[in-house]
Amino acid sequence: MNHAAVSPISRRVHDAMVGLLDDVHRFGAEHWRGWEEMYAGVRRSLARLLNADASEIAFAKNTSEGISAFANGLDWQPGDEVVSIEGEFPANYYPWKALERRGVVLRLVPQEQGRVSLESILSALTPRTRVVAVSFVQYLSGFRLDLEKLGQACAAHGCLLFVDAIQGLGAFPVDVKRVNLAGLAADSHKWMLGPEGSALLYVNRQVMGKITPTEVGWTTVRHSSDFSRRELAWRDDARRYECGTLNTVGVYGLGAAVNLLLEVGIPNIAQRILDLTDRLRGGLLAQGHSVFGPRAHAEASGIVSFVPRQGGAEDLLERFLAHGVQVAARLGMVRVSPHFYNTEEEIDRVLELASYLCN
Ligand SMILES: Cc1ncc(COP(=O)(O)O)c(C=O)c1O
Repeated sequence: MNHAAVSPISRRVHDAMVGLLDDVHRFGAEHWRGWEEMYAGVRRSLARLLNADASEIAFAKNTSEGISAFANGLDWQPGDEVVSIEGEFPANYYPWKALERRGVVLRLVPQEQGRVSLESILSALTPRTRVVAVSFVQYLSGFRLDLEKLGQACAAHGCLLFVDAIQGLGAFPVDVKRVNLAGLAADSHKWMLGPEGSALLYVNRQVMGKITPTEVGWTTVRHSSDFSRRELAWRDDARRYECGTLNTVGVYGLGAAVNLLLEVGIPNIAQRILDLTDRLRGGLLAQGHSVFGPRAHAEASGIVSFVPRQGGAEDLLERFLAHGVQVAARLGMVRVSPHFYNTEEEIDRVLELASYLCN
C-alpha cells in the first residue's frame, strides 16, 4: 500500500537481478556482451512504454539526476524563466531553483486543494518561459496532470515541457509523441515496480542538441571504445547523458520490471488502480476522514491521502505498520498507494484498520 514510496520488487525482477549477480560472482565480466544486449533491450522496452525511440533513452541513477541533467544542460540566459508548481516533491524543485545562480527566474503556480488547473499554468507563461517543469502525478494529492493538453499549450507557446514522471509512469499511459514532451525522468522503485537507483531519462531527439551533457565521462562520447582518441564529440543519442559505467544489476531489474508492466498492459493497470482507489476513497469518506485531492478519473492516480478523523498521521502510520500494512505519513496526512496487483480484500483491510485505529 506504499508504491508512492518504494514498491516491493516482483519475483521476476528479483530473479533477473540475482541471476546477474550469480553470473558476475562466478564469471566476473566474462559475459559482458550479454550486458550490452540487455542495455539495448531495456532501452527498447522503455521506448515502448513511452512511445519514444530507443535512442532517446538514457539510464540514470535516479529522478533527481535525470532532472538535473536536463535543467543544467540548457543554455540559460539571465531572465529566462521556468514555470513549475508550488509544493512539488523537492526532487523537481531544487534542480530548477539552483538555476537562479545563472539568472533564471523560477515561477511557481499554486495548487488549489491539491489540484492545478491548466489555465493557472498557462497564465504563468511569459515570453521568457523556456521550460515548464511539472510532475505527472503530485506526490501528496495524487493529482494527475493532463499532459497532452499541457504539451500542446507548451508547443504553441514555444517552450519545453519537462515531466517528473515517477509517481505515474508504470501506472498510467504516457505517450511522449502525443504530449510533444521535451524530457522526462523517473526512477523505477515506485510504480514501475523496479529497484531503487535504476532510473531513466528521456530526451526528445529534436531537443537533444539544446541539452549539453553536464556530467561528462568516458561513455558520453561517440568513440568511447577507442581510448586513443580525445575529440570531445557527444554521442548522437541519449547515451551522451550517461556518465561512465552503468548500474548493470539495476538495469537488469528495470528491464524485468518494465517487461512485466508491458505484458499486463498499462491501460489495464490504470483501470485497475482507479477501481481500487475508488473503493479506498469511498470507504475513507464514509468513515469521516478528510480525503485530499481530486477524484475525477481523468485527474486521479494510485495515491489517496487523507487527514484521519481522529489522531495524528504519524501515530496512525505506526499503528498501520504494527498491523503489517505499509502506508506513509506525509505533511500530516496518511498516504495510501495500492498498485494493480493489490486485491479488494486488501483495500477492505486498510479500511477496517482505518476505522478501528481511529476510534
Ligand atoms: C514526484 C517525485 N519525484 C522524485 C522522487 C524521488 O526522486 P529520486 O528518484 O531522485 O530519489 C519522488 C519520491 O518520492 C517523488 O515523489
